[in-house]
Amino acid sequence: MTTESKPTTTQSGAPVASDEHSLTVGTDGVAALHDRYLVEKLAQFNRERIPERIVHAKGGGAHGVFEVTGDVSAYTRAAVFQPDTSTETLQRFSSVAGEQGSPDTWRDVRGFSVKFYTTEGNYDIVGNNTPVFFIRDGIKFPDFIHSQKRLPGSGLRDATMQWDFWTLSPESAHQVTYLMGDRGLPRSWREMPGFGSHTYQWINAAGERFWVKYHFASNQGNVEMEGSEAELIAGADADYYRRDLHDAIEAGNFPSWTVSVQIMPYEEAKTYRFNPFDLTKVWPHADYPLIELGVHTLNRNPQNFFAEIEQAAFSPANFVPGIAASPDKMLMARIFSYPDAARYRVGTNYAELPVNAPHAAAVNGYSQDGAGRHHFNAPEAPNYAPNSLGGPVADPLLAGEGSWENDGALLRAAAVLRSEDSDFGQAGTLYRDVFDDAAKARFLDTITGAISGVQRPEVTERAIWYWTSVDAQLGAALRANLAKWAEADMLAEASAQYSE
Ligand code: HEM
Repeated sequence: MTTESKPTTTQSGAPVASDEHSLTVGTDGVAALHDRYLVEKLAQFNRERIPERIVHAKGGGAHGVFEVTGDVSAYTRAAVFQPDTSTETLQRFSSVAGEQGSPDTWRDVRGFSVKFYTTEGNYDIVGNNTPVFFIRDGIKFPDFIHSQKRLPGSGLRDATMQWDFWTLSPESAHQVTYLMGDRGLPRSWREMPGFGSHTYQWINAAGERFWVKYHFASNQGNVEMEGSEAELIAGADADYYRRDLHDAIEAGNFPSWTVSVQIMPYEEAKTYRFNPFDLTKVWPHADYPLIELGVHTLNRNPQNFFAEIEQAAFSPANFVPGIAASPDKMLMARIFSYPDAARYRVGTNYAELPVNAPHAAAVNGYSQDGAGRHHFNAPEAPNYAPNSLGGPVADPLLAGEGSWENDGALLRAAAVLRSEDSDFGQAGTLYRDVFDDAAKARFLDTITGAISGVQRPEVTERAIWYWTSVDAQLGAALRANLAKWAEADMLAEASAQYSE
C-alpha cells in the first residue's frame, strides 16, 4: 500500500466528491437520483455475489505445483505426467451439501479438485476424499442432492429423506459407509487423502490404451476428529478448515500429497470380476498396485478469494492429449454438467478469467463474443472453419484418441452384472476389514444417531435392512442400539414432563 492516496473515481474514472455524503436537498432532505456515484456504488454492491455452486458451495483453496517423480510414460503421453515435469496448479477443497456459510466440520464428503495448468491446456481432476460415490448414473444426481439438502417446505435438512433416498439406492452403501465412518470428519483438508474416483483412460505415445485411477495420499497423514469435537468447532469457527489451510501456507508449512495411480490394461476391463467403470467400487490394490506418479504441493494462498477460488471453474471435461474419459455413465453426465454450471454461475466467458484460462498453453479457435468477452482475435483473422486464410487447424490425429468399443444398442438400463457386482460387498469389506473395533463402535453410534432422526418407521426398517445387507452383525447391533436410544429419549422426555 502506498501512503499517498489516489483520488477516488467512478468506475468510468472521473473523480468523485464524497464517499460519506450522498447528494440531498438540504442537509436532511431527500436524496437526488442524479447522484450518479451513489447509484453506481449501490448498484455495483447489489451485484457483488454470483450464484453459489449448486453443490460444493463452501470451500477454500490455494495455488501449488505438481512435480513428477515417477515414470508413467509407458502408460500416458500427457506432457504433464512425463518424467521430471513440473506444472503450476490450483486446488480447491469443499464440502458437498452445505451452503456458502456452512460450518466446515459438518460430517460430509469433501471435494478435492486440482487444476493442472499444463503446456497442452488445462487438465482438471475433480475428485473427493473418498474413492467411491453414492450413485452410478448421472440421471440420479439432482435427486440425490435434493435429498441431502433441504426440504422445499420448511427449508430444513431432513434425515427421513436422506435415508429414504440412500436405502432406495443401495449402490450408495459403500460411500455411506465411508461418510458415516471416520473419513466423514477429517481434522483438516491438509490431513485427508484425495481420489480421482472415476476410472479414466490413459493413452501412451504408441496409441496403447490403459484404464487409470488417481490416488493422492496426504504427506501430513490421515487424521480425523470425533463427532463431539466437530460439533463444537462447527459452533465456534465455521471456517475452521479454510483458516487451517490459509494459516499453514502463510507460515510456510506447505501441505503436500504423494500422487499414485492404479493401472488396468485395456483388455482386462472386459473380463474383470466386477465392472471396473462402476464408481461405487474400488479396485483392490492386490490386483492393481499403486504406481508412484508425483508430488503435489500447495505453496501460495490466493490474493483475492473471489477471483481465484470463487470464480474458479473445475471440470472433468478438461482433458489433455494422452488422457480421456471411460465408459462410466456418471463421468459422462459430469462432462456436460460442469461447463454448463460455470456458464450459469460465472458467465458465458468464464474460461477467459485468469484463474480458468490456460497459463502454459495458447487458446486458438473460432468461438467469439458473448457477455463480458474481452479477448478478441486479430481483425484480419477468419472466424469460421475451414478457411484458406491461415486460421487455426484441428488435428485429425486426435480423432481416434479416447475411444473404446461398446455393444451398440441405445437403451436405458443398468450395466450387465458381473460375478462380484454386489452393492453391499465392498461396503461390508470396508466395515469388517478396514475399520478397527473402536472405529466400528464410532460408526455404529454415528449411524444410530443419524437414523434416529428418521420420522417414518418403514424408512427406519429399510435402513436396518440396508446395514444388515452390509453386515448382518452390524444390522442386529443397529436395531438394538436404535431401541436403546429411543427408550433413553422416552425416559428423558418423561422426566422433563414431570419436572415442568
Ligand atoms: C453425475 C454426477 C455429478 C454431477 C451432475 C455433478 C455436478 C456438479 C456441479 C454442477 C458442480 C458445481 C460446479 C460449479 O459450479 O463450478 C459440482 C461441483 C463439484 N463436484 Fe460434482 N457432480 C457429480 C458427481 C461428482 C463426483 C462423482 C465427484 C467426485 C468424485 C464430484 C466432485 C465435485 C467437486 C469436488 C466439486 C467442486 C468443484 C470445485 O471445487 O469448484 N462430483 N458438481
